[in-house]
Amino acid sequence: MTVLGIESSCDETSVAVLKDDLVLANLISSQDFHINFGGVVPELSSRAHIQIITTLVKNALAKANCTLDEIDAIGATAGPGLIGALLVGYTFARGLAFAKKKKFVPVNHIEGHIFSGFLSEDKPTFPLLVLAVSGGHTLLLIAKSFTEIIKLGSTIDDAAGEAFDKVAKMVGLGYPGGPKIQAAAEKGDKMKIPFPIADLKGKYDFSFSGLKTSVLRYVQSAFGRPQNSPIPEADLNDIAASFQYAVVKALLKKCELALKEFEISSMSLVGGVAANQELRKAFLQLGEKYKKKVVIPKLEYCGDNAAMIAFRAQSLINAGESFSLETDAFPNFSSKYFINSTL
Ligand SMILES: Nc1ncnc2c1ncn2[C@@H]1O[C@H](COP(=O)(O)OP(=O)(O)OP(=O)(O)O)[C@@H](O)[C@H]1O
Ligand SMILES: [Mg+2]
Repeated sequence: MTVLGIESSCDETSVAVLKDDLVLANLISSQDFHINFGGVVPELSSRAHIQIITTLVKNALAKANCTLDEIDAIGATAGPGLIGALLVGYTFARGLAFAKKKKFVPVNHIEGHIFSGFLSEDKPTFPLLVLAVSGGHTLLLIAKSFTEIIKLGSTIDDAAGEAFDKVAKMVGLGYPGGPKIQAAAEKGDKMKIPFPIADLKGKYDFSFSGLKTSVLRYVQSAFGRPQNSPIPEADLNDIAASFQYAVVKALLKKCELALKEFEISSMSLVGGVAANQELRKAFLQLGEKYKKKVVIPKLEYCGDNAAMIAFRAQSLINAGESFSLETDAFPNFSSKYFINSTL
């Protein structure tokens, strides 16, 4: 089966061609201009998607050495995401499917991330423990199959990626926060500042707002208001390293609890924050400790990408799910594959 995937939920336009297990093309156009505004501007994002999407589809097909006639199905992100941005990719894909009489699969973006480990050569196996950490979500899940997902916990306030972005802004590192904190942390001492790790009622839930406030208080008391006085580089590096250490510890603590409580075959770390090297290392070590197979997608498949959307579309078709062009699933914010909760 050959699937064309289209993703446009935020600030990446991406088009992929997936043939069975093989990614033939995965083109990603990142809207770097948002850097000037300190965050994503939704209206500008939608316009940039419109400008690039046709070219990207043509280029992806050319790279895959494939024509539209050879495509069996088209999968597109239906939500969650920025509504205007989603509309561009979703309506483009749906129109194309209608014109070319292809199967059309609306894909939940988070489900795309959850199963992105399957784009790796060495595939995860079910039951699969998934730590999904992105700009908008922090979820600990057990996938029993492609259509049965159990949510163990989620963040009660900020997502992990959001915490990286906000702390980076707070200390003057700017946007995008995750990679900048990681780079500064490499030169810092992670044991320098003992930032707190939240202890919550919900056994598998996460919270990052207390940690974020704690960084703010530290910066205020040690250096005055961050806007007024730049923080010396050595201190900045220590703050970044200590903050990153606290996030990684908070995430891994819950994964370890789950490994102790449930029968797990393999584990996967996914989403934009899965690009973080400290987190990747710690997740791998945890897998080694519990003798579990660990699958962490390569960096290209951690942030937003259409390969994961194409894969999710393919896995739903293979699971016997059917979709009709007539039922408009947009905007499809909720996933029907969560068996004990809604996403
Ligand atoms: N090396 C890194 N370390 C930590 N965080 C990172 C790193 N690289 C990227 N991130 C974070 O990943 C997030 C982006 O991930 P992603 O693109 O999956 O999120 P999103 O699509 O905006 O949100 P969602 O998938 O929840 O809708 C940002 O918050 C970014 O700071
Ligand atoms: Mg995402």
